[in-house]
Amino acid sequence: MAMKHHLARGRPEPRRVGNAAMVVTMLLSLCVLTYIKARYCSTPFPKAAEELEVVEIDEDYDSTSGGFAGNLYHDYTDVLVPLFTSTNHFGGEVQFLLSGIKDWWLDKFTPLFRQLSRYDVIDVDNDQEVHCFPRIFIGATFHRAMGIDPARSPGGVTVADFKRLLRRTFRLERAGAVAPRAGAPRRDKPRLLIISRKSSRRFLNERAMAHAAALARFDVRIAEPDNHTDMPNFARLVNSADVMMGVHGAGLTNMVFLPSRAVLIQVVPFGGLEWLTRVTFKDPAKDMGVSYMEYNVSLDESSLKELYPRDHFYLQHPYDVHKKGWDAIKTVYLDKQNVMLNLTKLTNTLEEARSILP
Ligand SMILES: *[C@@H]1O[C@H](CO)[C@@H](O)[C@H](O)[C@H]1NC(C)=O
Ligand SMILES: *[C@@H]1O[C@H](CO)[C@@H](O)[C@H](O)[C@H]1NC(C)=O
Ligand SMILES: *[C@@H]1O[C@H](CO)[C@@H](O)[C@H](O)[C@H]1NC(C)=O
Repeated sequence: MAMKHHLARGRPEPRRVGNAAMVVTMLLSLCVLTYIKARYCSTPFPKAAEELEVVEIDEDYDSTSGGFAGNLYHDYTDVLVPLFTSTNHFGGEVQFLLSGIKDWWLDKFTPLFRQLSRYDVIDVDNDQEVHCFPRIFIGATFHRAMGIDPARSPGGVTVADFKRLLRRTFRLERAGAVAPRAGAPRRDKPRLLIISRKSSRRFLNERAMAHAAALARFDVRIAEPDNHTDMPNFARLVNSADVMMGVHGAGLTNMVFLPSRAVLIQVVPFGGLEWLTRVTFKDPAKDMGVSYMEYNVSLDESSLKELYPRDHFYLQHPYDVHKKGWDAIKTVYLDKQNVMLNLTKLTNTLEEARSILP
């Protein structure tokens, strides 16, 4: 509360930050909230903390699962999409105050922050100045997983607008996927990007998959994004694809960079996971203008068949395992499963994907 005392006495000299409207904290803990109230003031003069006009505190904002998890899916669904929803309409006249910053994380998304704000991000945890803003918002508005409800978003912004912003940010050239067609410069083969994973939910026959896809006349690329992936380059690679395929996991979040009408093929591991794969990627794909397909892994294609006898509870009654909660689902079906795709089934799936490309 020493800070509050300072503010009440008007020291140090407050600095007005243009017409910037706002404060957003990423990790909305009680501690941060108290800090914000103590350290920041509204214009024209610093007010006592109690008088601070805190415009919005989003009660739904779940800071524990999101924030700077470093998981690409949570980066987008919990942080970047809500931030875009809440601030795009300020047209850059907004300043972000972040807490719990990790430099590698901020570096990765700085190009995006620069599109949303004309001002540098303030690291709340290491900031000594008093800043004044006409209005302060705390937290960002979450509508749904990877999605925006235009009826509730300021200015009616949509996920399509978000994708446009990403295209601008990372200078992505392709707005739409293009299938082979006579005329104009084009590729003669659609490009398939296989999203690889190294730890869990691996493709055990990735090279054979790539070979089968090449035989099906796809131009095949394989890539695995991680924390330290060069975002602009990876975004361009994804944007160059017509079909992106991967086992359920954070890597599929890269669909935000796909051109519209590209096809996303989510490989659903064995274990009754369709509700999970639906909310995370299937439903969001629609608003992103991405055609969605899924490839259901059968027990024959799953490494689980080597881990347990056929009549094992885990293999026979996945939904009963689900009743034990998230930890059980994660341990049994997500962390310990790899997949070996049936190449005939894969080829059929790719043919179908080709047929729905524009
Ligand atoms: C990224 O880094 C965070 C924090 O170091 C870690 O928890 C997370 O597992 C990493 N994610 C990947 C995909 O490597
Ligand atoms: C995958 O499984 C789900 C749930 O059983 C089913 O609704 C869906 O049609 C299946 N998809 C394909 C491509 O087989
Ligand atoms: C692979 O998939 C094809 C087409 O769905 C099916 O006919 C065949 O039996 C499968 N092969 C194996 C070994 O399961």
